[in-house]
Amino acid sequence: MAAYILAIDQGTTSSRALLVRRDGTIAALAQEELPQHFPASGAVEQEAEDIWNTVLTCCRAVLRQAGAGASDIAAIGITNQRETTLVWDRATGRAIHRAIVWQDRRTADTCARLEGEGHGALVHARTGLLIDPYFSATKIAHILDAVPNARARAERGELAFGTVDSFLLFRLTGGRVHATDATNASRTMLFDIHKGAWDDDLLALFGVPRALLPQVRDCAAEFGATDPELFGAPIPIRGMAGDQQAAMVGQACFQPGMVKSTYGTGCFALLNTGATPVASRHRLITTIAYQIDGRRTYALEGSIFVAGAAVQWLRDGLKMISHAAESDRLAAEADEGQDVILVPAFVGLGAPYWRPQVRGALFGLTRATGPAELARAALEAVCFQTCDLIDAMHADWPGQGGATVLRVDGGMSASDFTMQRLADLLGAPVDRPAETETTVLGAAYLAGLQCGFFPPPDIFAQSWRLERRFRPTMPAEVRAGRLAAWRAAVDCLVGRD
Ligand code: G3P
Repeated sequence: MAAYILAIDQGTTSSRALLVRRDGTIAALAQEELPQHFPASGAVEQEAEDIWNTVLTCCRAVLRQAGAGASDIAAIGITNQRETTLVWDRATGRAIHRAIVWQDRRTADTCARLEGEGHGALVHARTGLLIDPYFSATKIAHILDAVPNARARAERGELAFGTVDSFLLFRLTGGRVHATDATNASRTMLFDIHKGAWDDDLLALFGVPRALLPQVRDCAAEFGATDPELFGAPIPIRGMAGDQQAAMVGQACFQPGMVKSTYGTGCFALLNTGATPVASRHRLITTIAYQIDGRRTYALEGSIFVAGAAVQWLRDGLKMISHAAESDRLAAEADEGQDVILVPAFVGLGAPYWRPQVRGALFGLTRATGPAELARAALEAVCFQTCDLIDAMHADWPGQGGATVLRVDGGMSASDFTMQRLADLLGAPVDRPAETETTVLGAAYLAGLQCGFFPPPDIFAQSWRLERRFRPTMPAEVRAGRLAAWRAAVDCLVGRD
């Protein structure tokens, strides 16, 4: 009997593959950094071949580590950085342009024009999204306009578009399957999340030919089998979800009202709203959390573009620390009397502000400000932004009554300082699970659910284990003062946009 699920996690800064056992533990892990390209201000690209080669190398490495072959793998589950856009030649599988990464802002002017022309309401009603360069639609059109002949070739059906999941599936199946799942489709700005179908009005609005698009399937589904040449024999691919949605599954947030927040490069908080899509009135987005057996579960999502990236800035930009973990110790030494606030709008601000053009700023500097206060400001900024998202969620979903417990994961959730400060500023508990590889676990779970390797959601949810609960301890007036300082800083910046 096959012992493992092979989970592929193709993230923004690295590709990873893991072998997951039936009890949800990790048997093997391989990781490869993914080179980033910044060809112009606000532009972020990756080479399609780097995405593919790093994934393939990791998959082969974990099989080798475990001494496993294709027959030991019950299924593959794929999870991925979302929105990142690839267009490739169907005949060769080669991309016609570098992948345009989700952080890329080059289509900000196009988005501003479309918003100015009054298309925001249609886009929001059909897709649950706000018009922003973050999503795939304007990136696809950019590639078709930037590459000679691409638009004509796309219309003739010679080219394929996909987010990273879809590109990997195409390559893994030797070009036989061009498909995606409902969660990834819901990030393109071309997908009607109520009907579960590509939308012709949006395709016309953004100038994207229908012939480019992948077929959309459930998150737990038969996606085809790998080309036998890759791993010695075919392995079925049975799970797929965008990384934030996969983390929600891995955190077992299956009940309406449950919230998870993942701290990677950015931070993405998702609130399960059940079978009903809730239209945000506070500039969150509505997205598909997962689709199983043809049934869609929706989420309200708050997307923050800079979380762990702020700590990377301390390390690589300011060279204040040599390891991310040092920021904790430094922040703990900061003078509580100093209100130093960092608004880390390095690539603009995401939810709930949606200002692609603003850039970061530091407020409240004095002659006494030093590395400790800057470290605290970087960590606290992540907490303040999470507070903004959770406030918006409570306003959009009043049933919560402010009593949400937040389940956290991702690299920065290992920071005790940040998680305690988060609980303090939220005024609510923050739960860190024993297994923080939730994104991978979610992808593995979806693939394993499809083939009976893992049990149904309610049983799987019982295996979620708490490692530590952070409870709020900050005095109310201190909390109010810190939040007011953050709001004043953001107002100052956003007002100048
Ligand atoms: O929407 C972008 C998100 O999916 C990226 O996640 O973990 O690769 O930074 P991550």
